[in-house]
Formats: sequence, structure tokens, C-alpha cells
Amino acid sequence: MDKAIRCLPRQNDPNLIVGLDRADDAGVYKLSSELAIVQTVDYITAIVDDPSAFGMIAAANSLSDVYAMGGRPVTAMNIIAFPSDTMDISVMTQVLSGSLVKLIEAEVTLVGGHSVRNSELKYGLSVTGVVHPERVITKSTARVGDRLILTKPLGTGILTTALKAGLLKAETKAKLTEQMVRLNDKAAMAMVDVGVNACTDITGFGLLGHTCEMAENSQVAVEIFVDKVPFIPETLEFARMGLVPEGMYANQEFRVDMVKDSETDEDLLSVLYDPQTSGGLLISVPAEKAEALLASIRQGGDGEAAIVGQVVDKPESQIILV
Ligand code: CO
Ligand code: CO
Ligand code: CO
Repeated sequence: MDKAIRCLPRQNDPNLIVGLDRADDAGVYKLSSELAIVQTVDYITAIVDDPSAFGMIAAANSLSDVYAMGGRPVTAMNIIAFPSDTMDISVMTQVLSGSLVKLIEAEVTLVGGHSVRNSELKYGLSVTGVVHPERVITKSTARVGDRLILTKPLGTGILTTALKAGLLKAETKAKLTEQMVRLNDKAAMAMVDVGVNACTDITGFGLLGHTCEMAENSQVAVEIFVDKVPFIPETLEFARMGLVPEGMYANQEFRVDMVKDSETDEDLLSVLYDPQTSGGLLISVPAEKAEALLASIRQGGDGEAAIVGQVVDKPESQIILV
């Protein structure tokens, strides 16, 4: 897909701050010297059985790319593919209502949307946010010496796979859902307040995939402190049982050459590559600000946020697991 996009002719618009040239979480376009818009679109298949929870998760997931750019989301539009031949229309109402709960929490106004008939339920949002043109946070500007903070524990891909297999305890399912519906708004606000060098959010490529992107774009190397990476209880147990989503294997295969590792347990590695839905932010912050930022992120409700790595002066585009 990347290839198909890369071969498109480029438009030379001087107001384009973040576009297709370097993969980032959202596009950023300058409207004036004081104001830029942040635009993103994202939709997902139903990963939980409760339609309202699915709507909430999809909304949190779609909003996250605006937060990752240091932006404040303002408006949103629904995108829904709905199997109206096999599913009652009340399901659609529940999905959209769940989503609206999160939009209201985020102080984002729903302004419209688009629906199509489809064999499979898919839902997400196109979100528009605002940011000062000089305060855009990309994933291309991590600097040597930075610490990396991950704001949410890993495991949503493995645990939703276990959920589909009917193996998840009610308690773990509640924890999983709570984490995926939680907005990245407070963590983003804390990061904007303190001032950081780079940020991205952890989604389909997993922690290592998104770290690779940040390292590649920033032309730096990164050490990941494997023992410090938080994950949701039972994630590792299910990985050991082989309940790993297909996307994990694709993520690993794609990045295996960049990741230097000799002794990480194979199942733990699966967790590090596990594709996330509505995952946390990965923030690259100057070392002297890291502890204070971590404390304020935890205070904001991301109690398991942790310093999981650092940017190091080694050959660029390497991820070293330590
Ligand atoms: Co993203
Ligand atoms: Co996205
Ligand atoms: Co339309």
C-alpha cells in the first residue's frame, strides 16, 4: 500500500506541514500563521461483541491520531459499513451512540458522515483537529538522549483474539475494554504542556513496528527496555498458548532486520509486535523532563504508563532490545 502511495506525483503546496512524504499519524495543513488543521481517518472491524463498546473503541482509536500530533480534535464524521441484510438497524444506533459518548467526552462535535451497505460491519471516524503550526509534534524528530514513554499497556491484539475464541475471563475482558475506550487526550495534554520532541500512537504495527517508524523517520537508534514494557495481565499467557493475531506475524516479518535482539523470549516478542487497537502514545521526551511527564500522565489516568526506552547514539534505524 505504501508503494502505491509513494508513486503518486507530489503537489507542491507550501502550506502542507505534514503530508504523504513521511508516514505520520495525521496530515497537517496550515491555514494561517496561527492555525493549522490536523486531519485523519480511521475505521476498524468489530473487535468486541457489544456494539456500544465497539463504537466507543473505534472513536477513541480515530481521535488518537490527532492527539499524537499534539492537536486538539474539534469535529468528526462517521464512516460506517453496515450489513443491513443480516444485522438489525438497532445495532447501528448502538455503535453510533457509543461513539458519540466518547466524542462528547472529547468535546468534539459530530458534523456528518457516510454509510454504505457491506457484508461486514466496519466503523470509524474522520476527525479534524487544530494545532499551532509551530507546535506540531511529528514522529520524525526524536533526538539522541530522549527517553521514550509508553502511555498504555500492550496486549489488545492478543486479548481480542482470545476473546473471539471465548477464552477471556470477564475481569480481563473488562480491563481490555476499559483500556481501549480510554482517550489519549490527557496524556497528550500533559505532553503538549511539558514540550516533547516526537510522538506517535501505537496501533496496527505494534510497539516495535511504530518504534521502527519513529527511528527511521528521525534517523536515530532506539533501545527498548524489554522488562519495563507494560502489558495487560494474561497477555503473555495467551501468547504462550499461540493465540496471536495474524497481523503480529506480518509486523515481525516486516521489521525483523531492524530489530537487534539475542535473548528475548519468543512469546514476549509476540507481545512487542502485537497489533494494538486504540493503543497508547509513544512519546520521545528530553531525559530531564521524562520523570515529571510520566508522573503527570499517570495522574491523568494512564496509571500504567512507563519509560520503556531511550534514543541512543548508534547506527540509525536500529532498535536494540535490552
Ligand atoms: Co497513528
Ligand atoms: Co490511524
Ligand atoms: Co455520502
